[in-house]
Amino acid sequence: MNSLATQHQRVLSGMRSSGQLHLGHYHGVLKNWARLQHEYECFFMVADWHALTTEYENPAIIANSVWDMVIDWLAAGVDPGAAKLFIQSHVPEHAELHLLLSMITPLGWLERVPTYKDQQEKLKEKDLATYGFLGYPLLQSADVLIYKAGLVPVGEDQVPHIELTREIARRFNHFYGREADFAGKAEAAAKKMGKKNAKLYQDLRKRYQEQGDHEALETAHALLEAQQNITLGDRERLFGYLEGGGRIILPEPQALLTPMSKMPGLDGQKMSKSYGNTITLREAPESVQHKLRTMPTDPARVRRNDPGDPEKCPVWQLHQVYSTDEVKGWAQQGCRSAGIGCLECKQPVIDAVLAEQVPIRERAQEFITNPNLVRNIIADGCEAARDVARETLTEVRQAMGLQYL
Ligand code: TRP
Ligand code: SF4
Repeated sequence: MNSLATQHQRVLSGMRSSGQLHLGHYHGVLKNWARLQHEYECFFMVADWHALTTEYENPAIIANSVWDMVIDWLAAGVDPGAAKLFIQSHVPEHAELHLLLSMITPLGWLERVPTYKDQQEKLKEKDLATYGFLGYPLLQSADVLIYKAGLVPVGEDQVPHIELTREIARRFNHFYGREADFAGKAEAAAKKMGKKNAKLYQDLRKRYQEQGDHEALETAHALLEAQQNITLGDRERLFGYLEGGGRIILPEPQALLTPMSKMPGLDGQKMSKSYGNTITLREAPESVQHKLRTMPTDPARVRRNDPGDPEKCPVWQLHQVYSTDEVKGWAQQGCRSAGIGCLECKQPVIDAVLAEQVPIRERAQEFITNPNLVRNIIADGCEAARDVARETLTEVRQAMGLQYL
């Protein structure tokens, strides 16, 4: 586990802009982001370049969904006062880091990422035998590393991309974090913390290295974090020296697994655009009502007085997301005894989905009528993102010996 990153507890996550968001995104990702933004320093990114890797033949899809997606985020409760929202392509530093990292990335590492072959299989109608698509996970690594993010909220399918990111960071630090006389420089850096702190640091380092004492490591991290008067370079040396190796320029992030969304689609499968079983985030109430009223139920309930089994019914799964224990008990009992009809059973779910969307639609309205508001939020977010990205890139160029001064 890596020090710098987890200490900073900065969070970076992204979403491809390639279509409308639905309630699955809301329950799976956005509610999670809205919670994280109060716990960590958060950067949330519109991954338009990532969308381009698969939509390059029809980039209009991307252009059309960028602003709607940001509005969806804001409507769902992502707060620009708490988190920074930005667009990937507006921070071109990502592209330079991607390029620099590509120099040290073995082809095999990319070819082995499971999404590479999986997505090619799944999206057969698209030609994904491209350089850009192969580099998809490396671009994602650059997204994360340029912010030195410690935590990356992602779904299960993205975990291999975070694994790759960790390997790339390790390789980078291995190549470029080694300086002549690293130990000497680290010792000198320790002295700059003052006698007492330097001694404490050395003791903790010894305890960790000789006895594998993780508590000592934690304490040493806290000690380094608290130092105000040492340079970033010295801090990196001291972090690296603690654990052996060299300077840690790009800290290894960790995946923060998004709790599996239990949000079922209208057919009981996971809600997903490709299954055509979604309710969009800001769908019109009449349409929501229609979709729910016509969704399938337990096929055994052909007639009103045929009893049913909620376990065989997608409506029951929606009750589990939306209903109180009391309502759930009522549905169970009513279904099994044929005491209620399916439309009756669906009503509390319909009411709950509609109620959930009221504040979402309301919040969205403000941004729809005032597009400049959204533009400004993104402009601010991009500026904040670029400040961090520029700083990292300067360090990276320096470490790689690319500052020809
Ligand atoms: N690949 C991610 C997805 O499909 C989106 C993404 C791009 C991302 N860059 C990222 C997620 C950086 C986390 C961190 O969901
Ligand atoms: Fe499904 Fe409810 Fe109908 Fe039972 S009563 S089949 S749970 S909709």
